[in-house]
Amino acid sequence: MDYFAGIDVGSSSTEAVILDANSEMAGYSIVETGANSTEAAEQAMAQALSETGIDREEVKGSVATGYGRISVPFARKKVTEISCHGRGAYHLFPGTGTVIDIGGQDSKVIRIGEGGKVLDFTMNDKCAAGTGRFLEVMSSKLKIPMEQMGRLSLESGGALKISSVCTVFAESEVVSLVAQNRPKGEIVHGLHRAIVNRVWNMVKAVGIHGDMVMSGGVAKNRGVVSLLEAKAGASFFIHEEPQIVGALGAALFAQEL
Ligand SMILES: Nc1ncnc2c1ncn2[C@@H]1O[C@H](COP(=O)(O)OP(=O)(O)OP(=O)(O)O)[C@@H](O)[C@H]1O
Ligand SMILES: [Mg+2]
Repeated sequence: MDYFAGIDVGSSSTEAVILDANSEMAGYSIVETGANSTEAAEQAMAQALSETGIDREEVKGSVATGYGRISVPFARKKVTEISCHGRGAYHLFPGTGTVIDIGGQDSKVIRIGEGGKVLDFTMNDKCAAGTGRFLEVMSSKLKIPMEQMGRLSLESGGALKISSVCTVFAESEVVSLVAQNRPKGEIVHGLHRAIVNRVWNMVKAVGIHGDMVMSGGVAKNRGVVSLLEAKAGASFFIHEEPQIVGALGAALFAQEL
C-alpha cells in the first residue's frame, strides 16, 4: 500500500503522522524539537514508521509544516501551519468553522470555510504572553508539572487576577504571590485567565463560525480549555492528541503531491 507522511516541526514539539491511501491514520509520533530541527524531524519520522512497521520506501510523499519546516530535507513540499492546522481540523471534525491553535511559540485563530479552505486568520507570534511558552515559564517557576496545571486551576476559585501583561513581569508577580503564600491553584487560575483573555481577543477578531476546534499542546490544558469554552458559550472539539493536527493536515497535503 502507498503511505503519506506529514511532519510538523514546532518550536516546542515535532510530530509525524503517517496516512494510508484511504486517509486513515496508520500511526503518529510526538518528540521534543530540541536544538536541531532536522534531527527532530528524522526522529519523529523514524518513530512513527517503527510504530506502524511501515518501510520508508512505502511512503510516497511527505510534506513539512511548522516553524522548522525548511529544515526537513526529505519533505517534497512545505506548507504553512495555518493551512495544515485548518486542513487537519476539518478532516477530523467536518463541522469545523474556527480553529484555535495554541502552541509553544505562537497562537493562531483560523476561520475555515467549505472543504477546509482557510478564509481568514490572526496570529500572535511577537510576544510569549498568550502562548504555551508563558505557561511553561510559570510551571517551572511554580514547580508544578505542565500536566497538572489544568487540574489545579479547575479545582481552585478564580479570585486572583494577574495584572502584568508581559511574561517577564508576570513571572515577578508570580514570585511575589508565592511569597505571600497565595494558593498555587489560584495563581495558576489567574495565569490561565490572562492567556485566555489574550486569545479571546484574537477569536473576536476572526469571529466564531461553525464548530470550534482546538489544536496544539495547550488544548491538553483543561483549565485553559474550560475558560475559553465559557467565553464561547460552547464546547470545543478536541482530538485526543491535539498536537498532531498540523502534521495530519500536512500528510493530507502529501496525498496530493
Ligand atoms: N501534557 C500537557 N498538558 C498541558 N499543557 C501541555 C502539555 N503538553 C504540552 N503542553 C503545552 O503545549 C505547548 C506546546 O504546544 P505545541 O507542541 O503545540 O507547540 P509547537 O507546535 O511546538 O509550537 P509552535 O506551533 O508555537 O511553534 C507547551 O508550551 C505547553 O504549554
Ligand atoms: Mg505548532
